[in-house]
Amino acid sequence: MQITPSILNADFANLAEEISRLNDSADWLHLDVMDGHFVPNLSFGPHMVSSINAITDMPLDVHLMIETPEKWALDYVKSGAKSVTFHIEACAEPIKLARELREAGVRVGISIKPATDFDVVKDMLIHFDTLLIMTVEPGFGGQSFMDAMLPKIAEARSYIDSYNLNTWIQADGGINLETISRAAMAGADVFVAGSVVYSSKDPEDTVRKLRKLAESANQK
Ligand code: DX5
Ligand code: ZN
Repeated sequence: MQITPSILNADFANLAEEISRLNDSADWLHLDVMDGHFVPNLSFGPHMVSSINAITDMPLDVHLMIETPEKWALDYVKSGAKSVTFHIEACAEPIKLARELREAGVRVGISIKPATDFDVVKDMLIHFDTLLIMTVEPGFGGQSFMDAMLPKIAEARSYIDSYNLNTWIQADGGINLETISRAAMAGADVFVAGSVVYSSKDPEDTVRKLRKLAESANQK
């Protein structure tokens, strides 16, 4: 059970301090890259990822919400990402890009939006280390968790287990101290948590609480 806090709702003018509030508690740091086309929001690009890489020991988990990720994904490897996830809806040759990213030495994730069925990606999962299931419409932090995505998580979990794949299932969007147990029970094992962490007075404590809740839900 891993927690990957998203900085999307952090104070960007004090980012170094905001990130240092998480030292040692989080497994990864989730960086949401948005291009204003694939999603109706803009965030940051590879230069910001390099700057963040220089100030933290946490491995960087980059989530590309951009069109034509094949043009840009390797730039994020150069910027220091340890995992790069892109969207199936945005990429014409996902397996080719997955191979290039693996050859570059990073973990590779494929992401599906709420309207995209698990069936669309299941045959290519062998090429990916992570399946990111969006549990909100991508674009903004602070939205409500979509319970309607729980059956999709469960379907992915049973497929991954039945084929003995090592693919991690990452749930992204609306994860908080109430929803994480449901996502874990359905079969997710990596959890993105943005606003719940950054609105907390003690982000490290919140990360630890989230992990504990996920662990105990998983044992049920
Ligand atoms: C949404 C992003 C998420 C988001 C999570 O498009 O991919 O990573 O920042 O934030 P919360 O936890 O606030 O939903
Ligand atoms: Zn994300």
